[in-house]
Amino acid sequence: MTDDMREAVRQRYAAAARTASCCGDASCCGSGNKEPISADLYSLEEITELPVEALLASLGCGNPVALAEISEGEVVLDLGSGGGVDVLLSARRAGPSGKAYGLDMTDEMLDLARLNARKSGVRNVEFLKGHIEAIPLPDSSVDVIISNCVINLSADKERVFAEAFRVLRPGGRLAVADIVARRELPGTVTADMDLWTACVAGALLDRDYIRLLQDAGFCNVTLQSIREYPPEDARAFLAAPECVLDEEVAVAVASSIYSAFVRAEKPAL
Ligand SMILES: C[S@@+](CC[C@H](N)C(=O)[O-])C[C@H]1O[C@@H](n2cnc3c(N)ncnc32)[C@H](O)[C@@H]1O
Repeated sequence: MTDDMREAVRQRYAAAARTASCCGDASCCGSGNKEPISADLYSLEEITELPVEALLASLGCGNPVALAEISEGEVVLDLGSGGGVDVLLSARRAGPSGKAYGLDMTDEMLDLARLNARKSGVRNVEFLKGHIEAIPLPDSSVDVIISNCVINLSADKERVFAEAFRVLRPGGRLAVADIVARRELPGTVTADMDLWTACVAGALLDRDYIRLLQDAGFCNVTLQSIREYPPEDARAFLAAPECVLDEEVAVAVASSIYSAFVRAEKPAL
């Protein structure tokens, strides 16, 4: 990943964490409302489990915890844990005999996540500073990897999948929500740094997502659409003040991307 791209991503999410800390809503566009990508991801039951600050800081595009089927005693790792919402939900499901790690590169997000953990009273969590391309955990030390709208932000997705494979124990699983593309995005979009940091420009083609996971050694790879973006959503999240696209291109891009749930397994020995 180029240092410039990583720095642009870090700056965007540092600002989102500061907004969530001071104003209670981490909308990337500063509009004060959740963008369509991050709106309405959690059930009422989940919402009541968590401090309101953790939910307001959520910037995901799915609910990987609801789909990961976490059992008591499991060790869970969230790649790009942000304000910590999925780590806290995972820790509750893993129970006191299990543990949930959150990994993030942005200090402001780590501070927010640790504050949210203290407010929630959940103890079996640990937030690690680092990059998802170089996970600071030993080989075969994790049962379940989750991630919510983060892998698209990496310019070295092969490395992310190789690292995920390394830290999973044999038989462990990956359960990820991410933005993917059903067709190639135009060069004007993929070259736009604002659209990259907004989780649009770095979206892998869905078939490439599956192939790269298989190339990394994963088996039983599946990918399913969990949210499509109609034209009115495109206007909201692509026609934001900092967005350079005109409305027609924005609508075309929105019809090319979707939020997906991706499952994969590391073969058992
Ligand atoms: C779109 S937010 C999603 C946060 C969280 N998963 C959620 O659902 O609210 C992306 C997060 O990933 C982190 N991030 C992005 N790229 C990263 C990388 N290469 N290594 C570690 N963290 C990264 C950012 O700091 C940010 O907190």
